[in-house]
Amino acid sequence: MILPIVALGNPILRETASEINKNYPDLHQLIEDMFETMYAAEGVGLAAPQINLSIRLFVIDANPFTEYYPEANGFKRTFINPQIIETDGEEWFFNEGCLSVPDVHEDVARKSKVCLQYCDENFEEKTEWFEGVQARVIQHEYDHLEGKVFVDRLGNITRLLLKKKLNDIKTGHVAHDYKMLFNKKLK
Ligand code: NI
Repeated sequence: MILPIVALGNPILRETASEINKNYPDLHQLIEDMFETMYAAEGVGLAAPQINLSIRLFVIDANPFTEYYPEANGFKRTFINPQIIETDGEEWFFNEGCLSVPDVHEDVARKSKVCLQYCDENFEEKTEWFEGVQARVIQHEYDHLEGKVFVDRLGNITRLLLKKKLNDIKTGHVAHDYKMLFNKKLK
């Protein structure tokens, strides 16, 4: 089932998401719905707060980046209760976008390596290092669980230039070709 994607301006995107346990209701269906929703919107990652659930869960399929980033090949994963243990490497810029912030793409600096402790879709606990575009998408999605959105990481001038556009998104005045949920109170 394709779910509506929460737009910037909805307070759920500002919450710290909660951990879940393996008895979380219909977890496998939820994961399946999140992949379906992400693919329908042509995204490479989707975090649960973006579908209006404040829980520590995100899905990634980075395969569309394979042409320029070989590490993206076959990188399709589910991350439950992730915790960043450590980051390493140089900061590098990458042009990011977000399904909750349609039509905005900006260069964001992030570390090139991240060590993540998490559970997979079968609730098997893992600790693993990720690099390059894998680490990139993981850090973007992880931010969503911490109540952060990529535009928070832009410089002051870029944010100032984007102010009107971000306000338009918050009030639902933006073209989008997938189902979205706007914060009606702001309208
Ligand atoms: Ni995002």
